[in-house]
Amino acid sequence: MQLAKEESLRCRWITLDSPEVKEVDLIQGLKQTPKTLPCQYFYDDRGSALFEQICDLPEYYPTRTEQAILEKCALEIAQTTGTCELMELGSGSSRKTRLLLDAYQQLDRPLHYSPIDVSAGMLKTTALDLLHQYPTLRLSGLVGTYEQALAHLPESEIERRMLIFLGSTLGNLNEQECNDFLTQIQQALQPGDFFLLGVDLQKSIDIVEAAYNDAQGVTAEFNLNILRHLNDRFQGNFAIDQFVHLAFYNADRHQIEMHLLSLQTQVAVLRSLDYQVSLQAGETICTEISRKFHLPTLMSSLEEHTLKPLQVWTDPQNWFALLLCQRGQLH
Ligand code: TRP
Repeated sequence: MQLAKEESLRCRWITLDSPEVKEVDLIQGLKQTPKTLPCQYFYDDRGSALFEQICDLPEYYPTRTEQAILEKCALEIAQTTGTCELMELGSGSSRKTRLLLDAYQQLDRPLHYSPIDVSAGMLKTTALDLLHQYPTLRLSGLVGTYEQALAHLPESEIERRMLIFLGSTLGNLNEQECNDFLTQIQQALQPGDFFLLGVDLQKSIDIVEAAYNDAQGVTAEFNLNILRHLNDRFQGNFAIDQFVHLAFYNADRHQIEMHLLSLQTQVAVLRSLDYQVSLQAGETICTEISRKFHLPTLMSSLEEHTLKPLQVWTDPQNWFALLLCQRGQLH
C-alpha cells in the first residue's frame, strides 16, 4: 500500500531511536545474575507480528477483555476529555485505539493521533491503514522507546493531550521502573491533560499461567524470537534450538516471569558488539515480567504522581481494568 499525496500531507514522522543507549542496557543485562534482556528487543517486525498473533490466542485473555471494556466506554472517554491529541505508547497495530478514534469521530471531534513504537515497520503499516480508514485523521508517528518518547514529546497541534498506555504494558516494568515511568508521564503532561491506562488485575493463577503458555506455542516462538532478533541485529550466533520458553507465576510478587532456559552449557557471541556470553545448562535469561495489579494500590500510586483516576472500568469478571486519569496540579 502506498500513501496518496493527500494522505502524506496528513502525516509526519519523527525518529528518536538511538541504538547506542540500548546496546549498553543489553550488555548490562547479560552480565547480571540471573541474566536479563531488555524487552524492547522482542519487537522487531517478526516479533511485532507474533505479538499480534498472541493477542488473538484463546488463552490470552488480556487483549480481548480490554477491547470489550473499550467498546463499552470509548464514547464516555471521548465525552470526558473533549478534543485532544491521542498519543499512544507501544501502539503496535493500534487495533484497540480505533475504538477511541471512532468515538471522537462520532462526536465530530478533530482526530489527532501520535502512535509511538519501537518497530518502525509496524508503525508505518499501521499509519497507512489508519490514514485510509480515517479521512480527516492527522497523524504523527514516533519511532522510539517510551523513555525516548516521553523525554521528547513533539509539540501537539492542539492544547489537550491524552497519553494512552494499553495492554498492561505497565506490568512489564518492575516496581522501581514503574514509579520512574509514572514520574515521566507526570512530567510529560500538563495539568488538565489525560492518561488512559489499561492494566491486568490479579486473578486465579491457572488463568494467568495459561495466557503465557499457549497450546499452539506462539508465545514460545515470540520469546525465542528475541534471540533471533539479537542474531540479526548484532551478528550473533545464539543457537535458538538450544533454548526453551519458560513462563510461570511468582505468587509472592504477583507477576508472570518469562525466561529462556539454556538446554546446554553454551557460549554465544554478538560479533558487532564484540561481546561473548556464557550460559550453563539449565541457566535462564529473564526476558520479561508481567505484573498483575491490585487496583486500589495502583490507584494510590497514580494519585501520588498527580495522576488522578477520574473513572475506572472493568469487565464483569474483574480481570482487567481501564483507568482514565487526569493530571492535576503539583502539591
Ligand atoms: N504486555 C504483555 C503482557 O504482559 C506482553 C506479553 C504478552 C508478552 N505475552 C507475552 C511478553 C509473552 C513476552 C512474552 O501481557
